[in-house]
Amino acid sequence: MTVYFNGEFLEKEEVRISPDDRGFLFADGAYEVMRAYNGTPFMAEDHVRRLERSLSELRITGIDTGPLRDAAERLLMLNDLEGTNAAIYVEVTRGAAPRAHAFPPEGTAPTVFMSATPFPLLVNEMREGTKIILLPDLRWLRCDIKSVSLLPNILASQKASEEGALEAVLVRDGVITEGASSNFAAVFDGKLVTHPECELILSGITRKVALGLCGELDIPVDETPIPEESIREADEVMVFSTRKEVMPVIKVDDMTVGDGKPGSVTMKLQKAFRELVVRLCGA
Ligand code: PDD
Repeated sequence: MTVYFNGEFLEKEEVRISPDDRGFLFADGAYEVMRAYNGTPFMAEDHVRRLERSLSELRITGIDTGPLRDAAERLLMLNDLEGTNAAIYVEVTRGAAPRAHAFPPEGTAPTVFMSATPFPLLVNEMREGTKIILLPDLRWLRCDIKSVSLLPNILASQKASEEGALEAVLVRDGVITEGASSNFAAVFDGKLVTHPECELILSGITRKVALGLCGELDIPVDETPIPEESIREADEVMVFSTRKEVMPVIKVDDMTVGDGKPGSVTMKLQKAFRELVVRLCGA
């Protein structure tokens, strides 16, 4: 497998990351997961812009994101992923320097890594719907930064996996924020409700695309926090992410959502999303 590492294309086994790398020592870095359909990265500009923002908020400097888009396309080609669904993973850390909590010396080069791997759609779950569980949101207060510091997300995701759920959805101060690796929305009386963009959630690119499609489909949207207990009255529940696209949820913990089948608004949105992918990427 060929990967991109600090400006070079090389075999994954040839990558050498220092034990002094601040990504290893402190999870001091940011990342992106982008999907490519048919060899074409989807919403690449948005992902690069979000990475730039994460780096800027973390004050990681000295990185030129310009070549990343071309590098992503080249990785798809070099790994024979042009005709399939693939994930492009990008990580940038503050670089390697002797361990000290404050920033490393001026001029320390950031570490940049990118890979492209097969990323099949979750076809069955997208058609049949899936289960989520609700858990306390134990994360920091800058969830808008796509930081590689993901321990609360990892612990929540593992709990979900142990309970046969696809995703853990997080609750802070009595309201549903987002999933451990997705955004959350519910439908009440035909209106799609989702947490507003702020420092408590990641500004998901799938969420943004889905809200745009709601506009085209005349689905009313209300970006407002959803109290945990009102999920019992939701007609439909869904999560959005690069991995899950528009994913219908039919079970929240032990509660069945609606009639236990993916809802009509969710499926309308899922279909429109798929059509957009075909329009933009041809698959
Ligand atoms: N996760 N919220 C969180 C906490 C996320 O980690 C993600 C994405 C999202 C959805 O964002 P987007 O639609 O831009 O993928 C929301 C990626 C896929 C991951 O960590 O693998």
